[in-house]
Amino acid sequence: MTTLTIDIRHAEPDDALAIAETHRASWQHAYAGILPHRALRAMLERRNKAWWLRAIRGSTSILVIDVGGTIAGYATLGLNRARSLPQEGEVYELYLRPEYQGVGLGKRLFAEVRRLLDSLGCRGSVVWCLEDNLAGMQFYQGQGGRDLAEGVEVFDGRTLKKVAFVWP
Ligand SMILES: CC(C)(COP(=O)(O)OP(=O)(O)OC[C@H]1O[C@@H](n2cnc3c(N)ncnc32)[C@H](O)[C@@H]1OP(=O)(O)O)[C@@H](O)C(=O)NCCC(=O)NCCS
Repeated sequence: MTTLTIDIRHAEPDDALAIAETHRASWQHAYAGILPHRALRAMLERRNKAWWLRAIRGSTSILVIDVGGTIAGYATLGLNRARSLPQEGEVYELYLRPEYQGVGLGKRLFAEVRRLLDSLGCRGSVVWCLEDNLAGMQFYQGQGGRDLAEGVEVFDGRTLKKVAFVWP
């Protein structure tokens, strides 16, 4: 019998390539057909290994979920960027590789992200999700998020609605 260890930890410089690959696979899977092709391609090209290496060495907290030595997903978090919302913490991104979705890892990673925000002293947290990302919307609703606000993002001329989910 093989036993897989699941570990959630801060990203290290050696994780940069695996996070770049995770980001690429997950975003392609989540956003193809939602974001205009050119905008999505540009985002994927920008977030290469060097970009993630700078991010890991920078001030944003990055957690990875490591399943038996493979980076299955990542999350980024920090202070809330939307001044109009009172929540102090924000989950900027939470993405799993497609083949690791639907087996409870997102839930574990999200719980750890919220614990980290709490331990950093943030009162309340927010996550923005594109309304067309139905899986993301259902996930955050399922995690008890209250949809509090709406906004828009413009990608290459296409305007998409986004929803802010909040936790106390
Ligand atoms: C959204 C995401 C982080 C969820 O992680 P996951 O590991 O797939 O989800 P889990 O297996 O932990 O499931 C947690 C709950 O969400 C529900 N859920 C997960 N994916 C779902 C989907 N595609 N449709 C409906 N419900 C879903 C599960 O049924 C589960 O509910 P339960 O707690 O009642 O059993 C992951 O699927 C992902 O990375 N998706 C693509 C990127 C994305 O949309 N990120 C969020 C962008 S803001």
